[in-house]
Amino acid sequence: MTPVPPSTLTLHPPAKLNLYLAVLGRRPDGYHTLKTLYERLDVADELRLTRRPAGVTLTCSDPSIPTDDRNLVVRAAQLFFQATALRGGVEAALTKRIPVAGGLGGGSSDAASTLLGLNALCDAPLDRARLMALGGQLGADVPFFVSEATVAWGHERGDAIVPVPPPATPLWHVLVNPGIPVLTPEVYAQFDRLPAALTPPQADDTLLPRLVRTGDPAVLAGCLANALEPAIEASYPAIRRLKAVLSEEGALGVLVSGSGPTTFGLVADQAQAQALAARVQRGQPDWTVLVARTALPASAQTSRRTAGVRGSLGRAVQ
Ligand code: C5P
Repeated sequence: MTPVPPSTLTLHPPAKLNLYLAVLGRRPDGYHTLKTLYERLDVADELRLTRRPAGVTLTCSDPSIPTDDRNLVVRAAQLFFQATALRGGVEAALTKRIPVAGGLGGGSSDAASTLLGLNALCDAPLDRARLMALGGQLGADVPFFVSEATVAWGHERGDAIVPVPPPATPLWHVLVNPGIPVLTPEVYAQFDRLPAALTPPQADDTLLPRLVRTGDPAVLAGCLANALEPAIEASYPAIRRLKAVLSEEGALGVLVSGSGPTTFGLVADQAQAQALAARVQRGQPDWTVLVARTALPASAQTSRRTAGVRGSLGRAVQ
């Protein structure tokens, strides 16, 4: 008997960090050519999708987030039905846990989970390559999340994904979001105004993934880099202080993720992460401070309301 696709799915769209981000050039479409190393984290939103005969609706736990077609979940659902020419709709309920507009890819990840979830709910009409291409129409970070890789290079706009082996044991991070709203296009515009900001191409592509794989955080810390940092710091000087606090509190390496403002400290292990996070939070009660680790494939979990879902669709928050 053919398995019946489920009518409801609950997914856990994960956050990401950029352990490395080089800007190699500017493109005619207004984007920049990147070379970035993404890491998938165990901090995640929750997205519940229920199939409906028609229409796309969204509710969200955060009242500051629009729920109309400015929201990437709504746009992803519309794009999915348009691309598949399937008749149908979806009711989406989003619980936000990833800091919004923070450089952690929350909106992009919600969009990716919408594509993956709808594909599962509709008996998998699209393969992963097609879903990644659709994701690329929604945002440069979306294909990474659709790939469900744990660690991957992002080339071109950050949307040409090449997975690399995940670390043998998770990397531990303390994430700090100072609550400053940062607009990604403004960070790139500021980047363009800074002199000689483009990153020279690196000859050796293998060192960083090797360090991620073997997982000595002290050595990896020396290789963290984000070419957007000077642009972010020029527009938001508070980031410098945030970085200094994380370093003074003992992080092995400190970096702004993506276009910021979320900044992370790479630490040796869980105990150090929790102690450091507690100290930072005590000193700065207004900041959002989170402990996050690599979402390794072994921790993959999907909440299955009914039978018939194939593949891994989300990672549970640990
Ligand atoms: O694709 P996404 O919506 O994430 O990008 C937001 C903005 O960030 C783009 O409109 C562009 O200004 C900038 N960007 C860029 N180059 C990239 C990614 C993003 O210039 N590779």
